[in-house]
Amino acid sequence: MDTPFRLAAAAAAAMILSVTCAAAAEDPVARGDYLVNGIMGCGNCHTPQGPGGPDMTRFLAGGMAMDEPVLGKVHVPNITQDRDTGIGAWSDAEIATAIRDGLRPDGSLIGPPMPSPLYRGISDTDLAAIIAYLRTVPALANAVPKSSYAIPLPPAYGPPVETVAEVPRDDVLAYGAYLAGPLGHCVECHTPMAAGGHPDFQGRLGAGGREFHGPWGTSVSSNITPAGPVADYSDAELKAAITTGMRPDGSRMMPPMGYGYYARMTNADLDALVAWIRTLPARE
Ligand code: HEC
Ligand code: HEC
Repeated sequence: MDTPFRLAAAAAAAMILSVTCAAAAEDPVARGDYLVNGIMGCGNCHTPQGPGGPDMTRFLAGGMAMDEPVLGKVHVPNITQDRDTGIGAWSDAEIATAIRDGLRPDGSLIGPPMPSPLYRGISDTDLAAIIAYLRTVPALANAVPKSSYAIPLPPAYGPPVETVAEVPRDDVLAYGAYLAGPLGHCVECHTPMAAGGHPDFQGRLGAGGREFHGPWGTSVSSNITPAGPVADYSDAELKAAITTGMRPDGSRMMPPMGYGYYARMTNADLDALVAWIRTLPARE
């Protein structure tokens, strides 16, 4: 006699469960994985390069050295969970401050090209997801020397970031700007420097022309405003260029354009990114 009641109770419980799951949005570790290994491409700098691309046996273990004529000698650190040579001994709050404020637990500033100024705009939810995912990264011991900068670095990139609200994904242009800025730092590589060594976001956003030196030789970032080649690409061609590194004419892009990471982006995110790129004012 209590069977129908139990069934009804079970059905009600299952309904509550599915409603809660939908409301709880995404699993933070899955979201962090999607960000770190997708649009944010942390491995583009933090995973050392092997002969055939990133050396996944040294995933996020650092060690890449960049000899930049202007910056100085930069060594990319180990961000695996190794307690001695990585960030395994840092608290969640310390990792959050490192990523969003650009400050280590000892108060020292994390220098460029770590995109700290843009990372100030990462939402609280995404920051927590990134940290949840970083905790799952296997510890690899790799001691990396300190960088020696030839330029003076500021004491901080600004006042401590208190809180950043989530950018609603149904606001397509706002979300596209969030993907291109705080998450993907597309704008950093694709905007030329102004006098003073900062990207000229005001006057030349997206105009390209920055040079990158590495084992590939020298690559120059493309103009992604309507004054550049992308004006002639369909949206589908532009999405394919971003995710495969192949232009509509069949030519291939060199590093450090992070198409290997962008290949993981969802179609909805690519739509938002492309919609935002199409709003850039033309810059020669
Ligand atoms: C464009 C290259 C680049 C990208 C992309 C990048 N980083 Fe970094 N990161 C660096 C460099 C370079 C440093 C060290 C700068 C210095 O020596 O002061 C650094 C430092 C750090 C540190 C401080 C570690 C330490 O021991 O000092 C953390 C934590 C970190 N990055 C996490 C991340 C995460 C998480 C991502 C992706 C969300 C990321 N980085 C993306 C280049 C990058
Ligand atoms: C670390 C620097 C870097 C980042 C980050 C970066 N790019 Fe690039 N991008 C480049 C470089 C360099 C090239 C040119 C490569 C070449 O010519 O071989 C390029 C090329 C391109 C092109 C090809 C246009 C053409 O036909 O010449 C597009 C489109 C593009 N990037 C869009 C993006 C978008 C969108 C993002 C963010 C999701 C992004 N890039 C992030 C460096 C970067």
